[in-house]
Amino acid sequence: MKTEITTEYIDGILKEFLPKSHDKVLQAMEYSLFSGGKRFRPMLLLNTAKAVGKHISEGARTLAAALEFVHTYSLIHDDLPCMDNDDMRRGKRSCHMQFGEASAVLAGDALLNLSFETALRGPMSNKAYRNACAFLFEMSGIRGLVHGQSLDLFSATENVEDATELAVAKTGTLIRAALVCGATVGGATEEEIALFDEIACKLGVCYQIIDDILDSQKCERSFLDVYTESDLLEHVETLNGEVKAICDSLPYDLNYIKEFCDRNAARKK
Ligand code: IPE
Ligand code: IPE
Ligand code: MG
Ligand code: MG
Ligand code: MG
Repeated sequence: MKTEITTEYIDGILKEFLPKSHDKVLQAMEYSLFSGGKRFRPMLLLNTAKAVGKHISEGARTLAAALEFVHTYSLIHDDLPCMDNDDMRRGKRSCHMQFGEASAVLAGDALLNLSFETALRGPMSNKAYRNACAFLFEMSGIRGLVHGQSLDLFSATENVEDATELAVAKTGTLIRAALVCGATVGGATEEEIALFDEIACKLGVCYQIIDDILDSQKCERSFLDVYTESDLLEHVETLNGEVKAICDSLPYDLNYIKEFCDRNAARKK
């Protein structure tokens, strides 16, 4: 049977790994998990695993869920009053507005922990899978996303290099996790994995540029501090061209990455 990698398919995987109990924090987790996220990171992971390995393995499914749990935790904490202080997320009340700050902090903690619990349920005897797990959690922590949030909160963005470093760290890291984990469990070579990683860093910058343009009314650190909107859109086009050229150099059908580039450049949310 041909598996369609849709948001519904990913929701099904997430539900497999969620506990079934009554708990206020679990309600807050479910609220944020199922409130209209685009799921593009697990989609990239699953599509990469499939493009490289010719099927969607159990390891890829497990890591796709673990990755979306990390992403959702990062958004809940990102919205907290002590961080971006955002009342709304995806057109709805943010987690702390709906459930209170203490529940939102715990929901984020629990989702990060659930990503570890989930990953450990996967095929741990497989070396490629273990390497992929290690990369996912490196990208989630102080060498990855947390470092990005730290740069966002505590350092200045004075030029486009600073803004790029910030975007790769806060946004590129989970996209790196998606492509590198997918390629790793799919059985790609070291050289190929390095190219997927390079693609992901460029996609991270493009994704954050469009996010900053869409968020331009917010008083937050942004690519718009260092570049005009039209220069930024041109930069996205250049990076998209570089991504597509790397895709063409790899021996796989990576049309889903090229389509992602075009969808991102045109997206309105
Ligand atoms: C939002 O990520 C955070 C950024 C990296 C800009 P997404 O745009 O993937 O958020 P959802 O999950 O689809 O809402
Ligand atoms: C994106 O930062 C990175 C993370 C959420 C980790 P933003 O703060 O710009 O993301 P949004 O705009 O709140 O989704
Ligand atoms: Mg932020
Ligand atoms: Mg934010
Ligand atoms: Mg933003």
